[in-house]
Amino acid sequence: MKRYFALLLMLAFFAGGKALADEFTKEDLKKWHEAFMKVVEEGEKLFHSPTLGKNKVSCDMCHPNAANTHPETYPKFQKQLGKVVGLRDMINWCIQNPLEGEPLPLDDPRLIALEAYITWERRGVPLAPGKH
Ligand code: HEC
Repeated sequence: MKRYFALLLMLAFFAGGKALADEFTKEDLKKWHEAFMKVVEEGEKLFHSPTLGKNKVSCDMCHPNAANTHPETYPKFQKQLGKVVGLRDMINWCIQNPLEGEPLPLDDPRLIALEAYITWERRGVPLAPGKH
């Protein structure tokens, strides 16, 4: 009896999961992708603008098209920070050091946008967390 009950629960779970997974349409996907790409574009603009720091330097001067940012290797140990950090911590490190600016709050939409742009530029590259 107990076993049947467990089976019923499992069936309900999977059926429920499927129903949930089906709860979006092609229009939803299009809308969400457009929302994402808008943030990527904001990130791209920031990456090429001198507004993040105080010395008129922009990210693209050292990382053209987000080169050598290796988002796929995060989280990883970064010797500049002496611990395991996320991509956003390294973005802030560059804002504070090469750009001589103030670090962005971790929930700042500009930080999310920079992450979105940098990661989008590396789409398709296999994840390699911790890699050097
Ligand atoms: C003056 C040159 C310079 C500028 C400008 C610069 N960076 Fe960097 N960036 C570096 C150096 C040097 C490193 C350290 C490389 C290392 O040791 O991993 C680095 C590392 C990074 C990394 C980590 C790379 C990795 O392989 O783990 C990211 C992400 C990054 N920068 C993003 C940015 C962003 C975003 C900006 C603009 C806010 C920016 N950088 C501006 C020089 C620069």
